Amino acid sequence: MSKVIVAPSLLSGDFNNLSVELTRMQNLGIKYLHFDVMDGHFVKNISFGAPILKSLRPHYDFVMDVHLMISDPLAYVKQFYEAGADIITFHLEAYDHDKIIECLNLIKSFNIKCGLSIKPNTKVEELIPYIDQLDLILVMSVEPGWGGQSFMENSLFKIKFLRDYIDEHKLNCLISVDGGINDQTGTLCKEHGVDVLVAGSYLFNKDDLEQRIILLEGN
Ligand code: DX5
Ligand code: ZN
Repeated sequence: MSKVIVAPSLLSGDFNNLSVELTRMQNLGIKYLHFDVMDGHFVKNISFGAPILKSLRPHYDFVMDVHLMISDPLAYVKQFYEAGADIITFHLEAYDHDKIIECLNLIKSFNIKCGLSIKPNTKVEELIPYIDQLDLILVMSVEPGWGGQSFMENSLFKIKFLRDYIDEHKLNCLISVDGGINDQTGTLCKEHGVDVLVAGSYLFNKDDLEQRIILLEGN
């Protein structure tokens, strides 16, 4: 099995100990940092916004992978770009077709990567009208809003569907999965063709972090 990208989700970080932990992750070869933004409206929880990203940005080399779980991403894309986002992903459920296209175009106008995410109850086929414009698809394997939930197995067939479609059409789009990822569910996702594993509670505040990263990455 080939190596996947492991993207720790900052949502599970201990903010009192963040620089220690992020430096440790960077030294262990972690390339992506997943940044979960929640507005208390699109999801029933509030997390953090662009100022936190801006304060972290100069200190790390991570690809800043921003996941907007918010109702009006168009209004915030510029802020996150200016704060240092490398990839901005928003939710397909947030908008109708025309606004999805408008938001993807806005993200691309900043010369950064764009992604679309789907919640567990959204059909994977709904991504098809946009897929040739995407750099990343984020399959939610839990209901977005909280870390530490159990992986939903229906995401596996979505990953496989996307893997086959992307390969068949020779597209350049990463498949990422987010929610309930550990060594076992991560292996299942890899078997179904995932490229990026987002993991929060499995990675943060763990003494055996190095071993856990190795288990997720595979070889
Ligand atoms: C859920 C977030 C996830 C979450 C993952 O709304 O998008 O990134 O933090 O956390 P774990 O890995 O603990 O399920
Ligand atoms: Zn996320």
